[in-house]
Amino acid sequence: KGRRSVLVRAETINPEIRKSEEKVVDSVIVTELSKPLTAYCRCWRSGTFPLCDGSHVKHNKATGDNVGPLLLKKQ
Ligand code: FES
Repeated sequence: KGRRSVLVRAETINPEIRKSEEKVVDSVIVTELSKPLTAYCRCWRSGTFPLCDGSHVKHNKATGDNVGPLLLKKQ
């Protein structure tokens, strides 16, 4: 009692994009950013959404999916 439970269905987020890749990660180079690197979640499993917290690794193992974050990199 008092504990929050989260139901996570074991299904893929990415049914068709770049499935030949182990993990789909894209980067954008930006000249004006406060931090050198920011990772945005695209698996919808992050506990710090919209930022990536690495939860995609567990999701990918459980489902066979290949989702990864969008990386914004400061130039
Ligand atoms: Fe969702 Fe990393 S936690 S992409």
